[in-house]
Amino acid sequence: MARFRFFFAVKIFLIFHLAAISFASSYGSIQLGDQCSSDEECNVGLGCFKCGIDVARCVRSNVTDQFSVVNNSMPFNKYAFLTTHNSYAIEGKPLHVATQEDTITQQLNSGVRALMLDTYDYEGDVWLCHSFNEKCFEFTKFNRAIYTFEEIFAFLTANPSEIVTLILEDYVKSPNGLTKVFTESGLKKFWFPVQNMPKAGQDWPLVKDMIANNHRLIVFTSAKSKQETEGIAYQWNYVVENQYGDNGVKPWECSNRAESAPLTDKTKALVLVNHFRTVPVKILTCEENSKHLLDMIKTCYVAAGDRWANFVAVNFYKRSDGGGTFQAVDKLNGELLCGRDDVHAC
Ligand SMILES: *[C@@H]1O[C@H](CO)[C@@H](O)[C@H](O)[C@H]1NC(C)=O
Ligand SMILES: *[C@@H]1O[C@H](CO)[C@@H](O)[C@H](O)[C@H]1NC(C)=O
Repeated sequence: MARFRFFFAVKIFLIFHLAAISFASSYGSIQLGDQCSSDEECNVGLGCFKCGIDVARCVRSNVTDQFSVVNNSMPFNKYAFLTTHNSYAIEGKPLHVATQEDTITQQLNSGVRALMLDTYDYEGDVWLCHSFNEKCFEFTKFNRAIYTFEEIFAFLTANPSEIVTLILEDYVKSPNGLTKVFTESGLKKFWFPVQNMPKAGQDWPLVKDMIANNHRLIVFTSAKSKQETEGIAYQWNYVVENQYGDNGVKPWECSNRAESAPLTDKTKALVLVNHFRTVPVKILTCEENSKHLLDMIKTCYVAAGDRWANFVAVNFYKRSDGGGTFQAVDKLNGELLCGRDDVHAC
């Protein structure tokens, strides 16, 4: 009897122990493209998502680290980065239009390296808001910018070889309003100085030097005056960008949005491709994030005077029918770094 109890106890212990191990690794054996019912069933780097009326399948959910697969010795503008459109507009707020489903920290941990944020004055502070008429309202506000900036600070602190770019659609009018939040969140510590940005389309500094100097946060604002007043780079001096919303997803069309110089203007060393619909419908986003996106980055390559994009901005970045946005970024890094179709071939 005692002996039986002993073996029983060992068996129970083992069951719990093995369960704990499989929980700790928290990924399963289902492969890319196969049917699944939860993220945990999918193999490493994959997540379980539905696309349209299809069953849920394991699809890619993690970026390839181009700095470790290749190296970080090239200029910043020789790399491509996954970008989330309205990164802060995260599901869970009733009546708000969401474009993402992961928290900022999850986005960064999955390899998103550029965030598009809309900044507004609201209630005596800076808020992230999805609004109109340049004003934030109770029913359009998402959260205070400081909370998002603190998440970015924590990520940059924990990941000393990573670089994050912020692209601000900036309606903050209060003097030094943004500077105050960047200072309070600690992000000034990682600030890439505007005077080090190339002015006439030359190469950016090398990524490894940016890391060595701790210049790991690039911030662009849409408010021209702030480059003078607060030292925040005016986006349109450095980046060209195609149309956004429904105008940015028309097949075989890629032209500059109104604020941007023509895509062929090589005095701007960085190219950004917007690829998301005006009305974000999560279950359909997989389509625009899959083959359509691969087609569009080629269309925009030609439109930008044979230049591959550095940033690809999307909604619900993990939604695809297979490789999705991650494959698009692998292609861009491959083309930019070594003229191949995939960064893994470099
Ligand atoms: C996701 O990618 C990052 C960077 O390449 C890597 O550190 C991390 O381990 C990956 N996570 C998974 C679950 O694959
Ligand atoms: C880094 O990778 C690029 C692209 O493959 C290559 O041209 C370059 O020589 C590499 N630099 C170093 C220092 O390895």
